[in-house]
Amino acid sequence: PTPLAGRHFLKEADFTAEEFRGLLELAAELKAAKRAGTETPYLRGRNIALIFEKTSTRTRCAFEVAAADQGASTTYLDPSGSQIGHKESVKDTARVLGRMYDGIEYRGDSQAKVEELAAFAGVPVYNGLTDDWHPTQMLADVLTMTEHSAKPLTGIAFAYLGDARFNMGNSYLVTAALLGMDVRIVAPKTYWPAQEVVDRARELATASGARITLTEEIAEGVAGADFVATDVWVSMGEPKEVWGERIAALAPYAVTMDVLRATGNPDVGFLHCLPAFHDLGTAVGRDVYEAHGLESLEVTDEVFESAHSLVFDEAENRMHTIKAVLVATLG
Ligand code: CP
Ligand code: NVA
Repeated sequence: PTPLAGRHFLKEADFTAEEFRGLLELAAELKAAKRAGTETPYLRGRNIALIFEKTSTRTRCAFEVAAADQGASTTYLDPSGSQIGHKESVKDTARVLGRMYDGIEYRGDSQAKVEELAAFAGVPVYNGLTDDWHPTQMLADVLTMTEHSAKPLTGIAFAYLGDARFNMGNSYLVTAALLGMDVRIVAPKTYWPAQEVVDRARELATASGARITLTEEIAEGVAGADFVATDVWVSMGEPKEVWGERIAALAPYAVTMDVLRATGNPDVGFLHCLPAFHDLGTAVGRDVYEAHGLESLEVTDEVFESAHSLVFDEAENRMHTIKAVLVATLG
């Protein structure tokens, strides 16, 4: 059995740095094997349920392609197509699906739900995003950073600009703390992660040697960064009404070419988990841009389309890293 056989993948802090790095190494191996046409299917005959209570492009497709490459089958349960949360409790759903499937992915709002699913399923459960954490995204982001940096993980510095109170901000902070990286959260103070998340990160940093900075100052936050990351200002499940306050608070923290220049690093990479609001030309969010007289939101189109942008490598890496999680836990 693999070292993580039977384990859940619910949040980053459930893993040691060594285990997390092991998943990154496995992902790199699986990626190379796929490219070389030498991939071995370790998951033949396995079945994986994919529960999505929120929509998805990358996460769903990454799970489906990863499973198919490895010889496993998937069942996609869409936000309205199953009984979970509507007619049947999480606990009962867990016990039913656990009798049929070898693993269960869950995307929804509360972390408590995915934890409950894990407690009762009897098979590995994977967090495909909750309001609190996005751990499979972290594997992809860190893999992308290592691929685009000559430095060891512990030498890499990155800055996250934007709403840091939600899944992406929390996950970046804790992941960097776990792995001993240099992380800067750059946002108005009211958009910093909750105190308990910061405390947990500081605890992890004591063991890993990570450097943690929370600042409102963009110049201070991005100086010397190898990577600059951001996320949408309004997350799935939030009401449209919050756009006004978010734009007012976060507009100064949009990732522009000036922000990239302020790193002082001509090779700085740009990361975004996607989907991104970078282009007025896209139909998505047009009303929001127009109502506020903006052409882009959290990142300018210039940055998004520039040579700094690593977002499509990052998106591809969702698949290789999710494959590593499946192989490690079910292999
Ligand atoms: N980055 C990410 O999780 O994308 P999806 O919402 O498309 O899965
Ligand atoms: N913070 C975003 C991430 C999307 C992948 C959201 O939760 O909608």
